[in-house]
Amino acid sequence: MSIDEAIGLTHRPISPRFGSELEDVTLLDLSEQGIEALKQLGAERGVLVVRDQGMTMHQQAEFARRLGDATIYPTKSAGVPPELLVIHADGDSKHVAGQGWHSDISSDRTPPGLSMLRMEVVPESGGDTLFADMHQAFSSLSPEMQQFLLRLTARHDPTGHHLYLSGEKTLKELPSRVHPVIRTHPLTGRNAIYVNSAFTGRINELSRTESRALLDMLYQHVATGVDFQIRVRWEPDTVVFWDNRCVQHHAASDYFPAVRHGYRSTVIGEVPYLAD
Ligand code: SIN
Repeated sequence: MSIDEAIGLTHRPISPRFGSELEDVTLLDLSEQGIEALKQLGAERGVLVVRDQGMTMHQQAEFARRLGDATIYPTKSAGVPPELLVIHADGDSKHVAGQGWHSDISSDRTPPGLSMLRMEVVPESGGDTLFADMHQAFSSLSPEMQQFLLRLTARHDPTGHHLYLSGEKTLKELPSRVHPVIRTHPLTGRNAIYVNSAFTGRINELSRTESRALLDMLYQHVATGVDFQIRVRWEPDTVVFWDNRCVQHHAASDYFPAVRHGYRSTVIGEVPYLAD
């Protein structure tokens, strides 16, 4: 019996190998064992959707702290706990957060593991989030390409960082990091593609032209890989967890000028590594 079955976390797959909808669970009532099961299940399924989770901002911040070391966001909106990033778009928005396939803040030394997004206001239609499974993205490449990628590292720049996109910081004020192109998930031991179009600028071991061609091929593979993607339709009080170590996501911005409003928290992960 797996740990999620043992503590009664029942879930319905969204696709056979990727994404699950949790059933009959109240997140705020989870025991410590339940939190561990949630993290493990998040690592195994990549994306967990939980409906009808009414909670306040402060309850979400407290819950995020139970998941691990919560990222502290320097951007302050009045009354919003520092563990939460406001995700908001309306008819006046110049920029919609989360557009383009990416993994959250991969330019950090220890990029986020689990992200948690809770929506309070959603458009009548549209505003879905798309997710892609980087394990299947990797395993669906040819064995020769997989072997090649295992030897490479890439530089991640803060070009997709919310503080850069909002104009609060320059690229130079935010860190850049080198990570393996393929990383191993610490909870499952599985390998996943870890380059993304919002943050990854250059593969170190290749010439500039070769690096561009290889990154473009991988980004195309992720963007068109419908067999390893799912799409989540939000309702008010829906919470979605995704594991950035093995998942990329893309927020659709098809709902202008309607309002979409929610709060994201992220848990600081480990330094990405590739196991022998
Ligand atoms: C994000 O990239 O974290 C935002 C995702 C979303 O708004 O759906």
